[in-house]
Amino acid sequence: MRKINIGLIGFGTVGTGVLKILRSNSKMIRERLGASIVVKKIADLDIKSDRGIKINKGLLTTSVEEIINDPSIDLVVELIGGFEPAKTILLSAVNKGKHVVTANKALLAGYGIELLKAAHKRKVDIGFEGSVAGGIPIISAIKEGLSANQIRFVLGILNGTANYILSKMTNEGGKFKDILKEAKQQGYAEKDPTLDIDGLDTAHKLAILINMAYGTTITFKEIYTEGISHIEPLDIEFARELGYRIKLLAISRQINGQVEARVHPTLIPVTHLLSKVEGTYNAIFIDGDAAGPSMFYGKGAGMMPAASAVVSDIIDISRNIVREINHRVPMFSYQREFLKKVKIKNIKDVVTRYYLRFSVVDCTGVLSKISGILGRHNISIHSVIQKSRRVKGVVSIFLLTHEARDADVRKALNEIDRLSVVQDKTMLIRIEDL
Ligand code: HSE
Repeated sequence: MRKINIGLIGFGTVGTGVLKILRSNSKMIRERLGASIVVKKIADLDIKSDRGIKINKGLLTTSVEEIINDPSIDLVVELIGGFEPAKTILLSAVNKGKHVVTANKALLAGYGIELLKAAHKRKVDIGFEGSVAGGIPIISAIKEGLSANQIRFVLGILNGTANYILSKMTNEGGKFKDILKEAKQQGYAEKDPTLDIDGLDTAHKLAILINMAYGTTITFKEIYTEGISHIEPLDIEFARELGYRIKLLAISRQINGQVEARVHPTLIPVTHLLSKVEGTYNAIFIDGDAAGPSMFYGKGAGMMPAASAVVSDIIDISRNIVREINHRVPMFSYQREFLKKVKIKNIKDVVTRYYLRFSVVDCTGVLSKISGILGRHNISIHSVIQKSRRVKGVVSIFLLTHEARDADVRKALNEIDRLSVVQDKTMLIRIEDL
């Protein structure tokens, strides 16, 4: 039976999971693939630490070149993450004619088209199922299962850390800062969770989904991104009273040749399936013109779910190797010559509903001043509630708008926040009524 030799670069949590699956499911994988997968070498800066699995010391090296320059290695698995040295390593492997599997969302979202061009030049495949939503096979679902559909929208909860924090704030109460601290202690958040809580990790994943869904080549830099660190218990509580949950949502729609691409905290109705996605789970709600809406739900991170995605790519590409073909399924789901530029709608032109929370001095005429300014900027009020005083003399006014243009809302809030009766910057959270 044919052997496919692989080299693993990065022997951390996911790499360890990959080895575990390749061992525990080796018979099944052989039967599915018609070939056996052999781990030829594993490179990492740390080859001493115990990963909790038995490993032949002869497989380990600290030299990436040993893998890249080994002509017997068919496929390189890059699990370092980040831009560099991952990008150089990945491109070197491709340039040596090796297929690559990676879970590197930042790299795909920033340099996807560069990687695609290199892969075409050398006629090799790049698999990246592990880059979005861990164990959920959303990349292959878009590339293959939904390939008959024009995708109308993609909405996602794509970051487990942010979803864990918001779920905990909703279900148990507490401040963002305290829950983040606890999440770090318990291992639900990384030591440096900046990319997770500021929305950038979600934007990386959304950029990849947008490229897959619409056949384009945007980068994460084109996505309007807000994080969750400013969300207060008051907002969680009030959203709940109104029948909403607050989620860090990745939103993309294709409308009249333009694509909406944004990541921000969002009020979603408690009745919608996405609001039931709790803790570290991820979900993608995707609408195709034939299939209609589908939701994919599962574990977005962790050793075994992420390794599941990586090994599925290893099997997929190995099937191509066995049949001596490549690019059978295009990397960005459309044939390269049909990838097109799309216009990303400026956030200023996005029309949606808003939740606004004003902190104001409790005195006569405040509400009329605020509503007057909103009215002058074409913002129509849906409902308004004033809560009893929490801080002496200061009250919170919660207001939901009808659909309004982002630019108009910004201008109105600029004016409102300059009023002497306004005590704090107004909280703005967008609403998706789904
Ligand atoms: N830091 C990511 C998360 C891991 O919290 O979801 C998966 O990309």
